[in-house]
Amino acid sequence: MGTGTLTFDFDSDSAYVAGIATKPDVKVPVPFTIGEAMKIAIGADHAGYQLKDSLKKLLDELGVIYEDFGTTSAQSVDYPDFARAVAQGVAGGKFDRGILVCGTGVGMAITANKVPGVRSAAIVDTDTAKLSREHNDLNVIALGARVLPESRAREIVKTFLQTPFEGGRHAARVSKIESGRT
Ligand code: RB5
Repeated sequence: MGTGTLTFDFDSDSAYVAGIATKPDVKVPVPFTIGEAMKIAIGADHAGYQLKDSLKKLLDELGVIYEDFGTTSAQSVDYPDFARAVAQGVAGGKFDRGILVCGTGVGMAITANKVPGVRSAAIVDTDTAKLSREHNDLNVIALGARVLPESRAREIVKTFLQTPFEGGRHAARVSKIESGRT
């Protein structure tokens, strides 16, 4: 089991909601655990490749293993190609979770959700990132490089990685998603 220290950035209100912050100028180290040998598939389109590079550095800092599915430049590409590759990697079990970046995160999430077994959403804040792990077992996060400050995107990814699925009643609901029943 890998361990480390997560430092919340205080440009979001997540630390206050979590009850761990009292002053906006103080950084509070929070212990966290990332599952042993967690493997991440990461991909982006031309709008997201720079943020992807920043998130890869974050994964390096956290000691998380990843595979980069591209793209690697500002040359225009089609986001579904990258979303599908990452989603299929997660659905097939080669990767534990996926990270996708485009302009808004929306096209990536729509595409990823077409792959059975993938639960994806465009996430813009750490509270939703946490709840989407706890309640929905989100396994592919989609981020928008054109709508998110880099520091918040990093916080969101940390939260996505560190937060376990709660199971219980939520497991029954997620099973209904996967089986297509209501
Ligand atoms: C590319 O211009 C843009 O449409 C794409 O990055 C994404 O925002 C789609 O959802």
